[in-house]
Parts: sequence; structure tokens; C-alpha cells
Amino acid sequence: MKTGVLASGSGTNLQALIDAWKGGSLAPAELVVVGANVAGCLAVERAQKADIATFVLSHKAFPTREDFDRALVAELRRRGVELVVLAGFMRVLTGAFLDAFPERVLNIHPALLPAFPGIHAQKQALDDGVKLAGCTVHFVDKGTDTGPIIAQAAVPVLPGDDEDSLGKRILGEEHRLLPAVVRAVASGQVNVEGRRVRILPPAGLADARLRSL
Ligand code: GRF
Repeated sequence: MKTGVLASGSGTNLQALIDAWKGGSLAPAELVVVGANVAGCLAVERAQKADIATFVLSHKAFPTREDFDRALVAELRRRGVELVVLAGFMRVLTGAFLDAFPERVLNIHPALLPAFPGIHAQKQALDDGVKLAGCTVHFVDKGTDTGPIIAQAAVPVLPGDDEDSLGKRILGEEHRLLPAVVRAVASGQVNVEGRRVRILPPAGLADARLRSL
């Protein structure tokens, strides 16, 4: 399944996808293009190093969000993209984008949704005193981090944590979870029933394998 990744920053989740792809564990997903809205961001460099096509479209160059979204769709379509992964893409997408890829846009968020949507999720978790934090991969809908949850991973919040130490612990789980979910979606193992998402066992494999998600 031809997969496009959108990013705005350091691209460590993109790197996890690249490593999985090169290592053969992302199939049937293949990374065909990486798009960014910030020129010179590290994510674009990572893609170029991996010989993946890239494009940069600054949202500032478009009069409306919809115009920006339509331009993104055109770039992705040009490469035949069927599945879109938001990996640290710091723009909220409108229907102009989402309607072009129904149930085919994934996002990774550094919190156990529905708690702590939006920016500074790790700070929100620390400020609220939760003892478990984590990350969520979900389908994207028109809200901010509100779409159906596909998979989550939890990490402890330790007494001495600050945003940085907690963020790093969560990122470690993000890098494991995102490629696993992309592979499962591309394999047709992910079923959406309203708000509930079921991950079906891969053909011929026992349930034990599923729990590794
Ligand atoms: C990650 O924490 C991700 O959950 C959030 O943005 C951050 C991106 O980090 N959506 P990176 O660019 O993948 O390093």
C-alpha cells in the first residue's frame, strides 16, 4: 500500500517507519513520499537520506486551510498515495484533505487519548499528576486528536520527570507502535466500527502475535 508521511519537525517517528520499511517489517506498506510544511526540517533530510521522494509546501503560501489541504492532496495523489501517516505534522487538516482519504489518515499523539489532546501533551500529563502516560495511534477526523483509537502504549510517569524525560520515554513507545499500526492497517487487519477499532489477527497467525502491537 503506497504510503505518504507528513511531518513538520525532527522526524524520529518517520525514521522508525523508514527503518521498519528498510528492514522489511512495514510491508505491505511502502513509503513513497514524505511531505513537510517547514522547509529544511530534519524529517525531509531523513527522507532524502533514505532515497524517498519529498515535497515541501508551506501553509503560509495559501490563503485558506482548504487551499493548503487541496495542494497536499494533489502532491500525494501524484505519487499514488493510498495511506497517509501524520508523524509530527503540526497542522490540523480539514475535510478538503480528509474526504480525499477516508479512513486512511493516521496520526500519532504523545498521550493516552482522549486525555490530553492538542499541543504540549506531556506537560498536560505532568500538570495533571497522572501516573501513566503514553501514546496513541488513531484515525484522523475533523477534530484535534479525536478520531477512533487504533492502538495505545503506556509508560510510567516517574517522580523526577520533566517534559523532556517523559517525552523521551513516550517517544520510545511511539517508535515501536507506529510502524506496527501502519503494517496492520496496510494488511487490512484494522476494522473500524463507529468509535471502536478492532485489530484482526493476521491470516494464519495466532492471537499471541496481535498482543505484540
Ligand atoms: C511526536 O511526539 C508525535 O507524537 C507528535 O509529534 C512528535 C513528533 O516527533 N505528534 P518526531 O518529529 O517524530 O520526532
